Amino acid sequence: KTKAFIFDLDGVIVDTAKYHFLAWQKVANSLGINFTHEDNELLKGVSRVRSLEIILGLGENVEITEEKKNELLIKKNEDYLVYIDKMDDSEILPGVMKVLDFLKANNQPIILGSASKNARPILEKVNILHYFDDIVDGNDVTNAKPDPEVFLVGAKKANQSAENSIVFEDSVAGIEAANIAGMTSIGIGEASVLNEAKYNFNNFTEITEDFLNELINK
Ligand code: BG6
Ligand code: MG
Repeated sequence: KTKAFIFDLDGVIVDTAKYHFLAWQKVANSLGINFTHEDNELLKGVSRVRSLEIILGLGENVEITEEKKNELLIKKNEDYLVYIDKMDDSEILPGVMKVLDFLKANNQPIILGSASKNARPILEKVNILHYFDDIVDGNDVTNAKPDPEVFLVGAKKANQSAENSIVFEDSVAGIEAANIAGMTSIGIGEASVLNEAKYNFNNFTEITEDFLNELINK
């Protein structure tokens, strides 16, 4: 049988949250806002624009013009891209390659469903762009997770129904999006956080071929 396997990028395939953090921290500090690792959790799966709004909300009465906001968004991405530029395949998270190889060997469509506008360059940097049959990213959708748009477009590209689609996600918003879409949600990360996911694994090394076969043949 054939299913659509949809992967989130940041936090699922690569740990880019640390680079987003460093770039956002610079923005926050320039505005006199304290921004911690804990605050960074709030930004997972969230769009770039919304992330800035959340950071501004962490400050006390920080009011800036639209022009300044746009400037900060550009600055943040420039800083982020400096980190991305140094990435290579050693930054692919444990177990990811094994799962991608297994799905490829079994002719399953592999789709990217990410909020990031930097998805393609990142996949190129870590050398796995060619694994993906289709990419749906922040440039293709208007509604951010938990809106299911990104995953619904992904399933459509793979010619699969939502019921026949499986989503790997590390963010609460992403799991919610997959569930709203009527897809099988698989949380990658802490089960206590991703408690709405249908299945949960700490990372891809815990995902067995038997489990993947079950998903494929269900
Ligand atoms: C998501 C990340 O995948 O993409 C968020 O989890 C990020 O932290 C969002 O803000 C948008 O990414 P980018 O690369 O377009 O700024
Ligand atoms: Mg993510």
